Amino acid sequence: MENTSTAPAQDLADKISHRRTFAIISHPDAGKTTLTEKMLLYSGAIALAGNVRARKTQRATVSDWMDIEKTRGISIASSVLQFVFKDYVINLLDTPGHDDFSEDTYRTLTAVDSAVMIIDAAKGIEEQTKKLFEVCRQRGIPIFTFINKLDRPSKPPLALLDEIEEVLGMQPVPLAWPIGDGVSFKGVYDRVTRQVALFERSVRNETTAAMRTISLDAFLAQLAQEQDGSQLLYTLKADLELLDGLGIAMQRDKVLSQQQTPVFFGSALTNFGVEQFLASFVELAPPPQEYIDRHGERVTPASDDFSAFIFKVQANLDPRHRDSVAFIRICSGQFNRGMSVVHAATSKDIRLPVVYKTFAQERAVVNEAVAGDIVAIPSNGRFAIGDTLYSGKPIDFMPLPSFAPEIFGTIRMLDVTKSKQFDKGLKQLADEGAIQIFFRVHASRREPILAAVGMLQFDVVKARLESEYNVAVVIEPTDYETAQWVVEPAEPDFERYSLNKVTWAQDTNGNFVVLFRNKFIRELFLERYPEVNLSPTSPL
Ligand code: G4P
Repeated sequence: MENTSTAPAQDLADKISHRRTFAIISHPDAGKTTLTEKMLLYSGAIALAGNVRARKTQRATVSDWMDIEKTRGISIASSVLQFVFKDYVINLLDTPGHDDFSEDTYRTLTAVDSAVMIIDAAKGIEEQTKKLFEVCRQRGIPIFTFINKLDRPSKPPLALLDEIEEVLGMQPVPLAWPIGDGVSFKGVYDRVTRQVALFERSVRNETTAAMRTISLDAFLAQLAQEQDGSQLLYTLKADLELLDGLGIAMQRDKVLSQQQTPVFFGSALTNFGVEQFLASFVELAPPPQEYIDRHGERVTPASDDFSAFIFKVQANLDPRHRDSVAFIRICSGQFNRGMSVVHAATSKDIRLPVVYKTFAQERAVVNEAVAGDIVAIPSNGRFAIGDTLYSGKPIDFMPLPSFAPEIFGTIRMLDVTKSKQFDKGLKQLADEGAIQIFFRVHASRREPILAAVGMLQFDVVKARLESEYNVAVVIEPTDYETAQWVVEPAEPDFERYSLNKVTWAQDTNGNFVVLFRNKFIRELFLERYPEVNLSPTSPL
């Protein structure tokens, strides 16, 4: 475990106010890994950039499941990084940047208080960013924007701001302004301190570099002296006049309600603007927010009672131990080592002798953690996604919804004597949310139907059943196109609501689901049975 020392003793409210729990959302290749790494570098959590990528590779070589991650070049298992920057303890949750894992991403975003959106300055807002943004919007998560790769030819900054406004419907508030781009990139003007941070191309970007700053006037005078500076000077003056003329001021309540997004510019690869961004971000981003449980109970972070929910269960995180851990978001109070909590789903008391904070694949035992922190606890099949843990006053958080799957398949074992491991493995994978499982209501055998948001999830299930449970399986795609959960009637009469090419099934929680082969059949079904109320997400 590297340098992630905790802050000095403070009272609970003070500790919580110095927590920042966020995720980075971006389209693949915009620079999420690079920015994460540079944030760790400036916080002192790692000494040399390149470690996170190296770890990714190291991890990928130790299990078949991770091999999929390696060969497809995507991140399947989202990780949690905890580190200290200035007076703040930061929990950074990684969101897989691939379509196939939008369910996992959605759940991760239930555990954060804000999000950093990275935009590639040459590309503007891309598809995946838009999707992730929508999830943040639904969840009411405030967004901070970092426009990256200014060292490469970029779109004009005003065009990028227009895009944010038009495509995402938020008012961008540039707290900084880039001067040039690509080979003519000179630096970034900080509109708050009125200083220009000068961009210097360094040969190595692995270590931190102090940035040279000068006043705007001194910079303008310098630019006027440069042979080819006149165009840049003209553009910069015009841009700044325009920005000042617009008079858009950042208002914290508007940032928190997603009406505004503060915008920063930089180049993560060359370390430029990262430290400044992080310093502003920790000051402006919200501390842990209140949650509301399913009975409408308000759960305030600085309460004396501990509460948390599980947003991710991951088996075999460390292949040497073959265990499973649950990641919890602490919503209120403080966890102390060895404490007992109530598992709301079973009403059982559970002692938590070990709790870990994680740093990529590494873990360290923690003695205490407070609201806002993301920590991991040994699960070993006890916990499912969405479960609540509490001490003191009973709390039960909303279950995390499942999303309408788009691809379906049947699964069978090649060796029928392995049914025990097969059932255990499938249950574990369903608990982790790696896959959804439905059972036909009329089937004579309980043959599961797998349902996923993307094909890759099937590959992961197959590989993990084989490597972790020693069960070889065949997964065959079926021609269902969508599944919808039944909201009403509570106890549907399937005989009555039958239609050719419609299948009635139940999910692992016993909720009724209707599987449709295409949207025309769904429309026909809804027309014929208007009293049946369907939903694209599982009931809460
Ligand atoms: P991701 O996690 O969002 O998918 O993106 P990642 O950080 O892996 O970055 C994608 C590519 O963009 C990498 O190049 C990375 O070096 C580059 N990159 C990130 N930030 C900047 C930046 O500020 N300026 C420039 N010029 N490039 C940037 P790659 O060639 O795919 O990988 P590598 O060979 O550099 O490792």
